[in-house]
Amino acid sequence: MAILTAGALLLSESLIAIRPVQAFSKQSQQAGAEVFKSKGCEHCHGVDGIGTDRGPDLSGIGKRWKKDHIEQQIREGGGGMPPFGDALQPDEVKQLVDYLSTKRKPSHLPRQPVPDKAPSDESGT
Ligand code: HEC
Repeated sequence: MAILTAGALLLSESLIAIRPVQAFSKQSQQAGAEVFKSKGCEHCHGVDGIGTDRGPDLSGIGKRWKKDHIEQQIREGGGGMPPFGDALQPDEVKQLVDYLSTKRKPSHLPRQPVPDKAPSDESGT
């Protein structure tokens, strides 16, 4: 029962997480793509964030990192990346985060197949 509840929570959380991304602000995402170019992110992360030898590939970042984690990396930098907290307007940071959080290319790991039956069904037999 606890497992079912957790599953339901996860499911509803992901529904909540996905909807706004689709519904709101294509504009903000496009603005973020512009900021990405104009503020020099591209210099290290490559066109569209595909990565260079100066900065990692960001495709899939929206799947791996939550928005506030992305925002923190942009504001504070770290690991060889300069902080952008002072160089960017709060709006621009938000647009970048919106843009990067849509980058959800699946990682190289294969997807787990979804089982037909819930595990609890099988344990009874
Ligand atoms: C001087 C090169 C450089 C610039 C400019 C730069 N980055 Fe980075 N960025 C890096 C490096 C290097 C890392 C890896 C940091 C680490 O491994 O801890 C990184 C990491 C990141 C990450 C986390 C990715 C991951 O998987 O660890 C995000 C998100 C990010 N950068 C976004 C941006 C954005 C947005 C901009 C523009 C505002 C930007 N970066 C500008 C070099 C740069």
